[in-house]
Amino acid sequence: MRGRFITLEGIDGAGKSTHLEWLARRLGERGLRVKLTREPGGTALGEELRSLVLARRQSLHPDTEALLMFAARREHLERVIVPALESGTWVVCDRFTDATYAYQASGSGIAWERIAVLEQWAQRGLQPDLTFVLDVEPQVGRQRARSQKQPDRFESEEQAFFQRVREGYLRRAKECPGRIRVIDANGPMIQIQNELEKIISSFCSESVK
Ligand code: TYD
Repeated sequence: MRGRFITLEGIDGAGKSTHLEWLARRLGERGLRVKLTREPGGTALGEELRSLVLARRQSLHPDTEALLMFAARREHLERVIVPALESGTWVVCDRFTDATYAYQASGSGIAWERIAVLEQWAQRGLQPDLTFVLDVEPQVGRQRARSQKQPDRFESEEQAFFQRVREGYLRRAKECPGRIRVIDANGPMIQIQNELEKIISSFCSESVK
């Protein structure tokens, strides 16, 4: 049976990394084979593009940034995601195309429709089966990101930018209500994980039917 494709999204500092590992572990405990991966990244080229974009973001035109994200994504789909899904492995990915809508379109001002063209071009209709958007106030995200490590270039951008990114995710969730589940991630970890657990449980039982 084909594996399922799950993605996790949210503004910087939403707590994605913690929940991602937890999610992959919970799926593993259900006896599923799980591949944990990330974007930008996930392949040798993707990781090189990731370093390049993260280091130079301030000087890149948003169009260039979007094209690099999709270049990395095309490679990731071709070499990692699709083969894993076809072999029955479940793929859990730290960010995917919803991040490009949120960051490059809503955050940096590229027209939404232009991202849609690239999405169609690179994905040819393939979409995640389930996406969690961990929704936090930009202020909460900022505090969490700061306490973890030195901010990278993305993370040091203004709060107004993150507010636009957040709105981009919420717009995307309205457009894809069946696939995207918005989780209130302002509260304590246990509360968030309970919510994730509920959704994952019913998603898994529907998937094996
Ligand atoms: P992130 O996933 O937050 O990793 P870390 O937890 O290691 O900082 O960082 C990746 C950054 O890339 C994040 O700021 C969002 C950005 N990004 C985009 O702008 N567009 C995209 O399409 C993707 C996938 C990520």
